[in-house]
Amino acid sequence: MAIPRRTFKIGGDTEIHRLGFGAMRITGPGIWGAPVDRAETIRVLRRLPELAVNFIDTADAYGPNVSEELIREALHPYGAEMLVATKAGFARTGPNHWTPHGRPDYLVQQAHGSLRRLGIEQIGLWQLHRVDPAVPRDEQFGAVRDLIDSGVVRHAGLSEVSVADIKAASKYFKVATVQNRFNLGDHGSEDVLDYCTAHGIGFIPCFPLAAGELTRTGSLLDTIARNHQASVVQIALAWLLQRSPVILPIPGTSRVAHLEENVAASAITLSDREFCELDRATSQRQQR
Ligand SMILES: NC(=O)c1ccc[n+]([C@@H]2O[C@H](COP(=O)([O-])OP(=O)(O)OC[C@H]3O[C@@H](n4cnc5c(N)ncnc54)[C@H](OP(=O)(O)O)[C@@H]3O)[C@@H](O)[C@H]2O)c1
Repeated sequence: MAIPRRTFKIGGDTEIHRLGFGAMRITGPGIWGAPVDRAETIRVLRRLPELAVNFIDTADAYGPNVSEELIREALHPYGAEMLVATKAGFARTGPNHWTPHGRPDYLVQQAHGSLRRLGIEQIGLWQLHRVDPAVPRDEQFGAVRDLIDSGVVRHAGLSEVSVADIKAASKYFKVATVQNRFNLGDHGSEDVLDYCTAHGIGFIPCFPLAAGELTRTGSLLDTIARNHQASVVQIALAWLLQRSPVILPIPGTSRVAHLEENVAASAITLSDREFCELDRATSQRQQR
């Protein structure tokens, strides 16, 4: 197997390192309010450019607003290399409460709010956080088109969608990224990943570290990790990077030590045999 490319061009022109950072965990419990350890959160964010991480995924709904505001506080002015991607499409009413909200005027309002909170003139990548089932999806995709036409957004993507959704959205705008749940323990979005790979669409796997029981001592993952003198988390990330050249993992953490460990995973290359064994073992679990 060829060693995977470690960079990806979002929308064909915005080059990033493939291993990014998910900024959902830099808020309080239930993704609500301020983080428990604010000073460590700022340290995590400031460590990103030092580690050459230049792709951050956030959303208006994380906090709400807290994640975007902390990113600005820690990193503004951003270097030319840094892409801070954000999302909208949820209203928040309390810890762990997420209500899809896809009315076009709300989406446009929230994108403008993200511009202000992040302190930028254009959002390099803006993603529709959910397709709201209560609003015709064409209206939501039309709002994304308007955001691109008005220059608020450069590239746009989707989240938790089917291949049919991507095809429908593509009539309105070029889908640059898709963000679906996918990890070593959950291959549910394999058809979407294959579609993204075939069409050069960035695939951002949510919950990249959720490998669950695969991580237990003595498991295949554990054995491979020991062979590489790595952690199971690092092997789970290395597997994602090798699964497809369009995969852009965004592990989330609130701790510098975990961030450093996660970033180091991009230097690990699994052998063909290790990759296939992991793939087979996890695919078999899915079919049970
Ligand atoms: N589009 C969507 O609907 C959607 C949904 C979910 C997530 N996302 C995005 O995906 C990103 C990642 O998702 P996620 O944060 O839920 O899941 P994740 O990255 O799979 O896991 C994060 C959890 O793993 C822990 N962790 C991180 N690095 C670790 C390490 N090296 N060793 C041990 N534990 C470690 C973190 O705790 P510590 O803080 O203690 O490190 C945290 O509890 C989010 O930040 C968000 O940007 C998007």
